[in-house]
Amino acid sequence: MGQTSYLERRGQIEAYFDRTAADAWARLTSDAPVSGVRATVRAGREQMRHLLVDWVANPDPTRNVGSMPLLARSLLDAGCGTGLLAVDCARLGAHVTGIDLSPTLVDLARDRLPTDLAPGSVQLLAGDMLDAALGEFDHLVAMDSLIHYAPEQAVAAVCAVAPRVRRSMVFTFAPGSLPLRAMIAVGRLFPRADRSPSIVPVAPQRMHRMLAEALAPLGWRLGRTERVSRGFYTSQAQELIRQ
Ligand SMILES: C[S@@+](CC[C@H](N)C(=O)[O-])C[C@H]1O[C@@H](n2cnc3c(N)ncnc32)[C@H](O)[C@@H]1O
Repeated sequence: MGQTSYLERRGQIEAYFDRTAADAWARLTSDAPVSGVRATVRAGREQMRHLLVDWVANPDPTRNVGSMPLLARSLLDAGCGTGLLAVDCARLGAHVTGIDLSPTLVDLARDRLPTDLAPGSVQLLAGDMLDAALGEFDHLVAMDSLIHYAPEQAVAAVCAVAPRVRRSMVFTFAPGSLPLRAMIAVGRLFPRADRSPSIVPVAPQRMHRMLAEALAPLGWRLGRTERVSRGFYTSQAQELIRQ
């Protein structure tokens, strides 16, 4: 990815998700039938979504948190895509703001909002997750939205939002493992127009070191970490906790 700046990279990601792949992304995040490769990605993404929601809802796994553990808490779904995670969190009682670079995906997320959600529990916006005008939140979740940035940019993004988050942040990164590198190579066999902007893998130890160094001075510590690998999907969840 070389010296691509955050703004340049953001522009490429927006173009991809808003135009090139909006239809493919809409299908992947629906119940419509998909090919075997994409079915494994869909299954892995579902597992990851449940893991992240569970971590936000339950900071202490030894406690029983009840049926609406996020009641009255505010949450930023950073890079919300078509809104699946935002809806899951709203169902647990959260007031969710979902933001995404792609106005097309945000419109789709609005269309897909279930009618039985509490009115106003999900607000969906097109824009940059780093926009300070979004205000403060109890939690931030960024599922597979920072994996397209260089690790330095992903860590800088987390540090930029950290002062506006009161309790926890959970996000994913692409672990720099051999299987993932093989999958990225296989991904290059797909037609260019149908491929996602390259994912930037990073060794977990390196990511943890970078996060610890950058976030400790801001009053944050590393929490749980867990890799989800299902067929063609591999991503690593990381929890960050305000001390
Ligand atoms: C792989 S998709 C994941 C979408 C959703 N989180 C999910 O898991 O279904 C990545 C999304 O992150 C969004 N994104 C990337 N950088 C962003 C930024 N700086 N601000 C807002 N959204 C961003 C993209 O537009 C894209 O929709």
